[in-house]
Amino acid sequence: MCGIVGYIGEGSACDVLIDGLSRLEYRGYDSAGIAVRNSDGVIKVVRAKGRLKALEDKIASSGGVEGTSGIGHTRWATHGEPSEYNAHPHTSYGGTVTGVHNGIIENYLELREKLTRHGFSFRSDTDTETAIDLVEYYLMKYRGGPADAIAKAMVRIRGSYALALMFSDEPDRIWVARKDSPIIIGTADGESYIASDVPAILKYTRDVYYIGNLEIACIEAGKAVFYNIDGELIEKEPVHITWDADSAEKGGFEHFMIKEIHEESRVVNDTLNSVIKGENGKYIDLSAAGISDSYIKNISRITIAACGSAYHVGINLQYVMEDLARIPVRVEFASEFRYRKPVLDSDELFIVISQSGETADSLAALREAKKQGVNTLGIVNVVGSSIAREADSVFYTLAGPEIAVATTKAYAAQLAAGYVLSIQFAKVRGTINEDEYVRLISELQTIPEKIQSILRNKDRIQYFAAKYSNAHDVFFIGRGIDYAMALEGSLKMKEVSYIHSEAYAAAELKHGTISLIEDGTLVIGILTQPGLFEKTLSNLVECKSRGAFLMAIAPESREDISAYVDLVELIPDIDSHFTGSLDVVPMQLLGYYLGVARGFDVDKPRNLAKSVTVE
Ligand code: F6R
Repeated sequence: MCGIVGYIGEGSACDVLIDGLSRLEYRGYDSAGIAVRNSDGVIKVVRAKGRLKALEDKIASSGGVEGTSGIGHTRWATHGEPSEYNAHPHTSYGGTVTGVHNGIIENYLELREKLTRHGFSFRSDTDTETAIDLVEYYLMKYRGGPADAIAKAMVRIRGSYALALMFSDEPDRIWVARKDSPIIIGTADGESYIASDVPAILKYTRDVYYIGNLEIACIEAGKAVFYNIDGELIEKEPVHITWDADSAEKGGFEHFMIKEIHEESRVVNDTLNSVIKGENGKYIDLSAAGISDSYIKNISRITIAACGSAYHVGINLQYVMEDLARIPVRVEFASEFRYRKPVLDSDELFIVISQSGETADSLAALREAKKQGVNTLGIVNVVGSSIAREADSVFYTLAGPEIAVATTKAYAAQLAAGYVLSIQFAKVRGTINEDEYVRLISELQTIPEKIQSILRNKDRIQYFAAKYSNAHDVFFIGRGIDYAMALEGSLKMKEVSYIHSEAYAAAELKHGTISLIEDGTLVIGILTQPGLFEKTLSNLVECKSRGAFLMAIAPESREDISAYVDLVELIPDIDSHFTGSLDVVPMQLLGYYLGVARGFDVDKPRNLAKSVTVE
């Protein structure tokens, strides 16, 4: 949700800001803007509705923007329509503070009233403006300087924010404040950078400071100083980023999404290898995630909370964990969990799954679980993210930076992490024996190569997508793990190709929705579970009798299904617990190729943002 970039140094701020914003556009792309201070101390603001290109054109037609310090923003609208008028940066009523914001100021109406009483009037519909005006209000009232004014505003603001602020009287500094919205600072020789996410500045520096909740930073060229909300200095060490900047580039692929699908084999391999040890006699070692055998033995039940695709991973793992480890597992939308006064068991394990580690609802669910005193585990991709820092223990998925808004490789890595946990839980709790343990680990290790073999045949899916790009309604059906996969296949199709689709537990279709099946409706059945194959097949045939066009995703050993359906996508055979890692690939490809065939921007689908830091 919204991307922030800042720069202070000796180079062209405009160039750094535009470059950084182009790497953050996946976080929001309704409008964009920059504010740059020139050598006379004057701050020039340029804003434009739409994609970054519109801002670049406007900067060019305004004669360029000169200066060596500035802030930039790409917006995902929350308060106020996407427009130039609501685009960031915003300047305070009295002109002393210019700022950009990511997050939501929940009490902005109350703050507006307060500020109105003190003579302020407003220039946009945003909540952001109230935060910036509030800082100006405290600056003028107490004359205690930026740190004091920001801290006072932070006490009054409810909600989430990452704020980057320039003060008219402080030409050599940019100030940053944070609560529940990500923002990082990078330093190099004589230059400093601010960004919502590491890839935006990786080209310039690998030394990054993570700003904690309710902390303030003062950034000058080449250095950063940190304060808590009481104005006390905080010592911080920079974190050296080791992953490669190339992983945030397209690397010859047309889109990030297809590049990231092609990385799935590697990220699953890396995630598995981070915990599977031993040359002869493989075993799983979860000590890096802080999970010991006694910890596992003590678990009475598991709650998994997550959003979107990460929630679908949770649904899949419910089937796998319950079956292998015989632990009761429930899966919740993080957004529902946080508000329904959940009852947790004292020996319960609470797992939150999140690629970004910043999803507002997932973070809030984690905090609710922690408040109740249960053990928490994050399955997280972004190192140093809020969920990674707040969970009692963390299992890092090694997917690297995921840029396409629709998740693919991070989903694959989350599933792999969940499989490993399930197998280890089963072993330690004695629900599988040593032979089965070793067999399951070996099966897991076949996933990367099997993903590659599916990708080698991707042209078939591309061909089918080209033919079916005019579809209006698509149904995904499956049972058990296949139902969990239907949910993900359907989401991928909707979000990237904008074709309406729904996922159903196969037998549920006839309890109402089958009335929507008519001549030519595409129904995609997933049939990877041996005991459920015939049953889902019957449900598919019921649809065919009503005119549906049938596509099936099934293991190679069930090639016989081609006699019943119009099109088959075969996936390599694998232990039935792990089929999700394979059958998700053709569904991701289908969503991708349909989106491309329909001419949409698959990396940045309309109305979506990569990291949903508002609830
Ligand atoms: C769908 C998608 C989203 C995310 C969801 C959770 O393709 O990417 O549904 O899975 O917003 O995000 P994280 O995993 O960052 O918590």
